[in-house]
Amino acid sequence: MSRLDGKVALISGAARGIGAETAKLMVAAGARVALGDVLDARGRATVEALPADSALYCHLDVTREADWTAAVAATVARFGRLDVLVNNAGLFLAKDIEEATLEDWQRLSAVNLGGVFLGTKLALPALRAAAETSPNGSVIVNVSSTAGLVGSPSDPLYSMTKGGVTLFTKSSALEFARKRYRVRVNSVHPGTVDSDMGDQVLAVRARNLGTNDIEAARQMTLARLPIGRVGTVNDIAKGIVYLASDDSAFMTGAGLVLDGGITAQ
Ligand SMILES: NC(=O)c1ccc[n+]([C@@H]2O[C@H](COP(=O)([O-])OP(=O)(O)OC[C@H]3O[C@@H](n4cnc5c(N)ncnc54)[C@H](O)[C@@H]3O)[C@@H](O)[C@H]2O)c1
Repeated sequence: MSRLDGKVALISGAARGIGAETAKLMVAAGARVALGDVLDARGRATVEALPADSALYCHLDVTREADWTAAVAATVARFGRLDVLVNNAGLFLAKDIEEATLEDWQRLSAVNLGGVFLGTKLALPALRAAAETSPNGSVIVNVSSTAGLVGSPSDPLYSMTKGGVTLFTKSSALEFARKRYRVRVNSVHPGTVDSDMGDQVLAVRARNLGTNDIEAARQMTLARLPIGRVGTVNDIAKGIVYLASDDSAFMTGAGLVLDGGITAQ
């Protein structure tokens, strides 16, 4: 696996799921990590399971500027710098267009789009400062989705937010390159992953089958997956660690698709 010795990362939505697994792999790769989330008890328990002095928990609602400012400050105060930001926090709506309300959209876009914008903007000064002493600069990894590459038949509003994350990744990479900031920005695009959110995805597919049979939805998902299994949080976290590391030093504005081949067809 790629190494992150001496690097410091801040991961949003890291109490559980892909974010928590990313924190674990980053610490194993030599990094020190700040985990932000709104699930404080779960987040603190995730930090306690990591080696002593390798991680820190911050209450971070990604829709709140003040929380981002405090989380970045706490990370730099504790670990001295910030090399890597992972914009991972996200919500899944699971409603079709006719069902969804304006309030649903506002909440979803505040987290999935607003959270990525605020994280990028408010972590940027610390990322730029760290880039000055780092041979390959600093890094942002945005967690988009296959639903940010192709349309989602069951959650079009989620797809709209993740499509926005895909192009914001490319645009922010180009802006920072134009300004010679030495901050690379890339995205990952997970397919269906076995996590709390993955369970919500299967529940919606079961409902759309008209059966509410989760096992039938799982079998239908597997039948469409060229690789024959759903993803694990570990599959996705390994991709994020690669993008956070100097092994991906020539990548910026790109998307790493981790989907078992679902969007290849
Ligand atoms: N699981 C999948 O099938 C799948 C597929 C593609 C993309 N993704 C993306 O991966 C990312 C992680 O999802 P996951 O599968 O680990 O799901 P998850 O629901 O287990 O984790 C998401 C985390 O984000 C946190 N969060 C939600 N709102 C927040 C807010 N306002 N501020 C801070 N944290 C907040 C949650 O508390 C949770 O810990 C998300 O962006 C999701 O859209 C997941």
